[in-house]
This record gives sequence, structure tokens and C-alpha cells, in this order.
Amino acid sequence: MATNLDDAPVHLRGNGRPVTEEQTLTELKITGTVPAALDGRYVRVGGNPVTGDSSHPFLGDGMVHGVRLRDGQAEWYRNRYVQTPFITNPDMNPTDPAVMMDMKSSKANTHVIGHAGKILALEEAHFPYELDGDLNTIGATDFDGALQGSFTAHPKLCPITGELIGFGGSPIEPYLRYHRVSADGKLVQSENITIGGPVMMHDFNITENFVIFMDLPAVLDLNLAMSGDMPIRWDESYPARLGVMPRDGNDAQVKWFEINSCYVFHPMNAYEDGDKIVLDVARYAYVWRDNAMDMPPSELWRWTIDMATGKVHEELVDDFSTEFPRVANSVVGQKHRYGYAMSMSDGGKPGDPNAARGGIRKYDREANNWSDIDFGQGRVGGEPVFVASADSKAEDDGYLMTYVYDADTDRSQLVIMDAASMDDTPVATVELPRIPSGFHGSWIPASVVS
Ligand SMILES: [Fe+2]
Repeated sequence: MATNLDDAPVHLRGNGRPVTEEQTLTELKITGTVPAALDGRYVRVGGNPVTGDSSHPFLGDGMVHGVRLRDGQAEWYRNRYVQTPFITNPDMNPTDPAVMMDMKSSKANTHVIGHAGKILALEEAHFPYELDGDLNTIGATDFDGALQGSFTAHPKLCPITGELIGFGGSPIEPYLRYHRVSADGKLVQSENITIGGPVMMHDFNITENFVIFMDLPAVLDLNLAMSGDMPIRWDESYPARLGVMPRDGNDAQVKWFEINSCYVFHPMNAYEDGDKIVLDVARYAYVWRDNAMDMPPSELWRWTIDMATGKVHEELVDDFSTEFPRVANSVVGQKHRYGYAMSMSDGGKPGDPNAARGGIRKYDREANNWSDIDFGQGRVGGEPVFVASADSKAEDDGYLMTYVYDADTDRSQLVIMDAASMDDTPVATVELPRIPSGFHGSWIPASVVS
């Protein structure tokens, strides 16, 4: 059983305990059949404080955990720290304003993606970190000197153009920059965007022709930063708005739409429907009102922006707590029928390292219903990553991958689930050492990084 240290912060108990070793394991035990056509790496990142301690879940040092699948085998499991300045200099305070403004001082702990032949470990306030195919760190990248300021942990990869579309937030003006990276990895457009203050803008949205910024009331507080605390707090007086801009547009072309006060870390997806833009999002009524751990459950909502009337229709889809929503890569920015989210069957909060049970909820947005995978008592998964099958014909013809932690064995598994059937029995499981609860990841096919 997992041991809990009563004096450790909540996020470092249970499966929040950091691991202390970097490992390379081969000859991994597989149950079921890994589809032979899966050729690539599933890589997920999370905070794993190198000192063993961090003041907030967002401030741990990035550690990637990856499994290489090829020819029906699991060739290796590797976990590696992203070699940021904090690894060699662990006493550096990440919320010190001077450290915050050094763009190489990333925790690199939030997301890992593959684009234009590169693997990038991302954290929203700094430069991306490039990794090699064995998950070793190559170094921070500023797109050959083109990147000014930070780059989001949640860029969107357009399935039509191959572009990587993102933004960067900053504690000083300009508070927001838009960034567009070409399919061959060149930063081809950056635009300063005017917003009301230094908000935490964690994620955003693309459609075929537009991007949608979420300017929401989680605002940076530099006094908190100086104290070493997570420097973001809820600001009731800050208006919540969505900003719609053409993908090759600029600040003057952003149209802003007011919405009810709320916070969204993660949208599921967005798309155009005539004069309307539809967004499915994991919505919180507020975040961090009283302290940096203060969060109500998230719920799936649909926002429909009417570009003609300027109004936004807001509708609750599901009041069950789900987070880390994803869609198939093929429908990012396009109309989706299906979305997949991490669900907390015990009513816990998403990402809670002490949760007792968690699965995957698949939303059918056309039929307006859902179905569930339950990992069982004491077993908790993470963000479900959809991977299309070799000859995928339907949107949900493929697999869902995530790491599942089992409290009884205190170990983890890579599970490969059937996304179409949502059967509780995995297509395959790969036995792994314990992988602490973390954030986001990707399936990076060998066609992107061999
Ligand atoms: Fe995120």
C-alpha cells in the first residue's frame, strides 16, 4: 500500500509522492495485445520535485514518463527529468520575479507534444524544452531566436494545415502574445494582444479560421509571488471574456464577447457552425478564491458564440466531475462528435493524487449522452489520449491511452483501451513502476520522431 506522510502537502501524498530514480526498463510484461500498427511513444509529463518538496502541484520539476511501442512490443519505459536550470540549481525560487522572467527557467512540467520532428516539453510561462527520442533533454528552444517571451503548454496542432498555434502570457505588458508555428516548425507570426491584466491563460482554442482566447478572472499577484506562494488568485471584479481572432489576424481584429464569470483550464474542442462558434469546455465556477488549492468540481459546458448577435449561449452538459478533455487529433478545430475526459468516480477532484477511483468518460455530443470506462476500486487513470487505429474510418475508431495507478500494488500500468466500445477490459496493459499523478501527454508517432 502507498504510505502517506501526514506532514507532506496533500499534492505530495498518495500517488503524488515524487519518484527518486530515473529508470530505463526493457522486457516489460504485456497483458493482451498491443496493436502491431502502433509505432511511436506515449509520453506524459508531470511535476516531480527534485528536492522532494514543492509548495504547489504546478511548481514541481518536469519529469517525462514514456513507453516506446513497436511491432506489438513495448520496447522500453523511460522516465527522465527535463534538464531545466532547477535540476542543477534546486534552491532557485520559481516564483521569484527575476527567475520567472528568465525564459529558460521553465519547470517543463505541463505538457509534452510532438511537432515538426521534435518532442517539446512545455510549461506556459517560459520557452519550450526540446527532448530527443530517448527523452533526454536537448535544451530550451526559442524557434531559432524568433520567440519573444513564453509559449503556452497547450498549443493546438491543426489537422488541416499542420500548424502549431499557440500564445504566450506574461506578468508584464504585453500580457498576451499570439504565436503561429508553420508545419515545418518555423515561428511565422507573433502578435501582441491587448487584454485587461496579467491573467493565467492556461489553454485556448482553434477552429478552421479562428482562434479563441479565454480572458478569465485568475490574475497574477506579484506580492504572492514574492512570498513563494502560487502567485495566482481569483479576482471577482475582472470581467470574463472570449476573444475571437482570425488565425492570421492581429489585435485590432479580435472581437470580444462577455461571458458569465468562471474559469476554464481546458477546453475539449471548438469548431465553426455557420455564424456560430461552438466550444465544449471543462468549466469551474471559480478557482483559487481563498487560497491556491481552492477549487470546486469542474463540469462540462457548451458555449455557443453567435458572431452575428454578439451573444454567447452557455449550457451545462454534465455536472459530473470530469477534466483533461481531449478529442481525436483529426478533429481538433473541426466539428467533433466525441470527446474523452478523465472522470473521478469517487467524487474527488481531477488530478487528486489521493483519489480512490477514476476512469474515462466518453461524450457523444451528437446523441448528447456518454459512456464510461471504470478502472476499478483503488485504480486511477489520467488524461485519456486518443490514438486512431491503422485504418480508422470512424472518429472513435482507435484507442485511449493513459497511465493507471493501482494503490494496492503501488505500481502503474500503461493501458490501451478501445475507444469505440469503451470496454472496461483493456486491449493491452504494459506493467510499469509507479508513475506519480501528472498532467498532459501525447502519442508521438514514429512518423514525427523516429
Ligand atoms: Fe493543462
